Amino acid sequence: MSELSFKDKVVIITGAGGGLGKHYALEYAKRGAKVVVNDLGGALNGQGGDSKAADVVVEEIKKNGGVAVADYNNVLDGAKIVDTAVKAFGTVHVVVNNAGILRDTQFKKMDEKTFQLLIDVHLNGAYKVTRAAWPYFRKQNFGRVINTASPAGLYGNFGQANYSAAKLGLLGFAESLAKEGEKYNIRANTIAPLARSRMTESILPPPILEQLNPEKVAPLVLYLSHEENKLNGETFEVAAGFYAQIRWERSGGVLFKPDASFTAEAVGAKFEEILNFDDSAKPELLKNQHPKMLNDYQSLTNAARELKPFDASGISKISLKDKVVLI
Ligand code: NAI
Repeated sequence: MSELSFKDKVVIITGAGGGLGKHYALEYAKRGAKVVVNDLGGALNGQGGDSKAADVVVEEIKKNGGVAVADYNNVLDGAKIVDTAVKAFGTVHVVVNNAGILRDTQFKKMDEKTFQLLIDVHLNGAYKVTRAAWPYFRKQNFGRVINTASPAGLYGNFGQANYSAAKLGLLGFAESLAKEGEKYNIRANTIAPLARSRMTESILPPPILEQLNPEKVAPLVLYLSHEENKLNGETFEVAAGFYAQIRWERSGGVLFKPDASFTAEAVGAKFEEILNFDDSAKPELLKNQHPKMLNDYQSLTNAARELKPFDASGISKISLKDKVVLI
């Protein structure tokens, strides 16, 4: 493959004053991009702010002969970040939604502010920046979005209900953008990285941290945001030089006939089958429904007619007596 050049491409990287974002910024600049280094320079928990973080990265890029401007806006002021790009370079071609903070708290102690803040910075911030860039993408028939999820979003993690919710939200966000952007040559993909940074330095043991050089994540971000890339709406786990795709898998499933036999007890009795992945599918579109679910109501009705009612006799009734249920 010939060298992937970003000459004349304008790239916004949020949270590029340190950690992963800084490495992306340096690499894009090396390959000829005009880089907007956004960072409000706050603490890991999101408090405070300092223009120095972004300035230092811009200085380093310029020292190496690259082109970059600093931007100190909060990602929640996404339109201002895109304005910085447009004022300096006329447009924007790539948005890397990378800015992030942590407020780890056991769920029993997680107040609304702690939850909302994480949704704001990660998810609403990505929305704000991408939304402001979208008209430029459409007009120039080119755009690339990289969203930064996390293994904690894919699998959940103790003390990170706020972070996990925001991170998995970014995946759904990218999947929909991919579908809407496809015909305008706009691609949106998601990465779930693990790397050495101030986010992980106090959590992971030194021998593991040694393997997790953030430079090992940058090649994926660069490839996915290049015009060569045709992948769209995909998700990748990336750590220590290991690159793998993540996708959804749906079990073979069970179709219940909608009659009196279709009860909570019948569902309970069929769980072994519901959880059986022997006949699984890997859906990518809303309309990729399971053959048993079928694509239209007519065939669904026909399929249901063909099924014998599930025999629920002999299954003991599930009782909710004395349970308090909030719906
Ligand atoms: P980092 O803390 O070094 O970098 C994040 C940057 O975002 C900081 O420079 C910070 O000032 C900036 N930032 C925070 N809130 C901002 C806001 N509202 N507006 C503008 N800038 C803001 O952390 P790291 O590790 O480089 O993280 C980068 C991204 O990767 C984050 O989204 C993080 O959640 C994600 N991630 C990192 C993992 C890791 O192992 N390091 C694991 C999974 C996900």
